[in-house]
Amino acid sequence: MIRAVRGATTVEKNDAGEILSETRELLKEIVEANGIKPEDMVSILFSVTKDLDAAFPALAARQLGWTHVAMMCANEIDVPGSLEKCIRVMMHFITEKSNPDIRHIYRKGAAVLRPDWRGPERKAGEGLSGRENPREIINIAIDGPAGAGKSTVAKLLAKSLGIAYLDTGAMYRAVALKAMEQGIDTRDEALLAGLVKDIDLKVTYEDGKQRVFLDGRDVSSEIRSPEISMGASNVATVPAVRLKLTEIQREIALQNSVVLDGRDIGTFVLPNADLKIFLTASPEERARRRHKELLEKGIGVSFEEVKRDMENRDANDTGRKFRPLFKADDAVEIDNTNLTPEQTAEKIITMVKKLGLK
Ligand code: DC
Repeated sequence: MIRAVRGATTVEKNDAGEILSETRELLKEIVEANGIKPEDMVSILFSVTKDLDAAFPALAARQLGWTHVAMMCANEIDVPGSLEKCIRVMMHFITEKSNPDIRHIYRKGAAVLRPDWRGPERKAGEGLSGRENPREIINIAIDGPAGAGKSTVAKLLAKSLGIAYLDTGAMYRAVALKAMEQGIDTRDEALLAGLVKDIDLKVTYEDGKQRVFLDGRDVSSEIRSPEISMGASNVATVPAVRLKLTEIQREIALQNSVVLDGRDIGTFVLPNADLKIFLTASPEERARRRHKELLEKGIGVSFEEVKRDMENRDANDTGRKFRPLFKADDAVEIDNTNLTPEQTAEKIITMVKKLGLK
């Protein structure tokens, strides 16, 4: 049978030496993981993003001695906001293996392209099945619209399970703050792509208190204003921003047991999360909660204003083209209009225990 294996990797610079050595590593990993012998290779296709032209990656395959294999290099489609400095490979080969047994290899920055193929530590489908022994690292995704109570419930859950909490909305808020401080329009794709490239963003959660650091500065309170809420919803429509923040969020989730709340955690950031919750509440109740929260912080706005802002944000978050808010097929939906945060957290803890995660 002829089958195909995919792989991809990224390089730091458009440098011939780095392109060739990284491609060799990728090819070696592909053949090792799948037991492919050179005589069984049929063809290898390579693509590089527009920003790489210092070397043909096919040369790396020839350097490995695969001189008889048909190969070709091409440019990848230059979709705005897509992963940069990326080398993609597709190899056809003769094998007895069936498709699900083929291991596709995504190295370095390219791991974000196919999180469902991200390696043996968590295979597709493994996350949601009950298991006999609690695993060391668990990831719980809570998605839903603004004001549904995600962060309150996520904090209670993290505390009760003794794991970390990551508020991904705070990261979008920090990007919006940075843009607004620099006078950048929160919908300007090109400028925002540059802005997030090397952004230094840290979210800590200690003793029940979350702190957000932007370029070393504590911006925890500044990011909670209504202007920043709308700005965050705007920057969240920009693919380059989402890709960059997704990369940071995945890295945290890979290393830590964590409850993450946001809009796209169960659908895109962690499609193999151990448990996915889609938390909702009626629009009135969500606006009422947000209004109360703002008044408690001393931000004087009317209920109508909050409700209107929330409707705009809902439309923005669910209507955007790139990674909009929607419920993952395998997420459990909880409408908590008439539940307290404690009751909601309790429901989720029961699910965690039932799945044998803790
Ligand atoms: O949860 P929050 O209100 O702090 O989020 C602020 C905005 O960021 C929200 O309008 C949508 C966006 N967001 C997102 O698009 N994806 C996430 N994972 C988290 C937040």
